[in-house]
Amino acid sequence: HQTDGMRVGEGILQAARTFVQADLAEHADGHDWSHIERVTALGVEIAHRMGADPFIVELAALLHDVPDEKLNTSLEAGMAKLHAWLDTQPLEASTRDTVVSIISTISYAGGQRPEVFSLEAQVVQDADRLDALGAIGIARAFSFGGSRGRQMYDPTLPPREQMTREEYRNGRSTTINHFYEKLFKLKDLMNTSYGKELAEERHAYMVQFVEQFKREWEGTDKDNI
Ligand code: ADP
Ligand code: NI
Repeated sequence: HQTDGMRVGEGILQAARTFVQADLAEHADGHDWSHIERVTALGVEIAHRMGADPFIVELAALLHDVPDEKLNTSLEAGMAKLHAWLDTQPLEASTRDTVVSIISTISYAGGQRPEVFSLEAQVVQDADRLDALGAIGIARAFSFGGSRGRQMYDPTLPPREQMTREEYRNGRSTTINHFYEKLFKLKDLMNTSYGKELAEERHAYMVQFVEQFKREWEGTDKDNI
């Protein structure tokens, strides 16, 4: 029965919101509830435009950071927590498997291409990546960098290719470096056409930001006044 299904679906989404909000409440390094809200809203919007299943996208987006390695003792522990919560919900086995597969796909670091990369997984990944771009992406990067004790910028730093793994791990990288290492690459990794359009705009804004940042750092911004 259609309406029953929708009512059950809304109940599951509401339960997911409550669960995730409580789970993430204590984190202030960019992995906060507002990130989840933005990724969920954007995911649902992209889902509608791209013809993806909005319920699957919304549920996966709400839960996508639950198993994050940085928020758990390990990825495995995080996945166990996710499974334990899903066990409490009246979900069809196939829906549950799809949601778990989306979340594990986008949780593993590095642009790994899994065999099953559904449209819904592509949409959630795009929404998550879009939140690392633009003005909010900039704010999140500095917030994360600060929480790890990273410098904002160091023009004397060698490029990452010339650093040893140890040097890199020991915090010799900076938040501005993170733009080159990851953020500027994201626009070319978008899966959906709508996601790519939005990413281009946010990317352009970040490029401008970094240019202006360096002008101010070097003191050359006042030259044309
Ligand atoms: P997400 O939760 O969106 O998948 P991550 O867990 O990779 O993203 O990172 C969360 C936020 O912190 C992102 O906005 C990302 O750009 C930022 N971030 C991750 N690593 C670094 C870093 N080394 N320096 C600065 N910011 C970072
Ligand atoms: Ni995320």
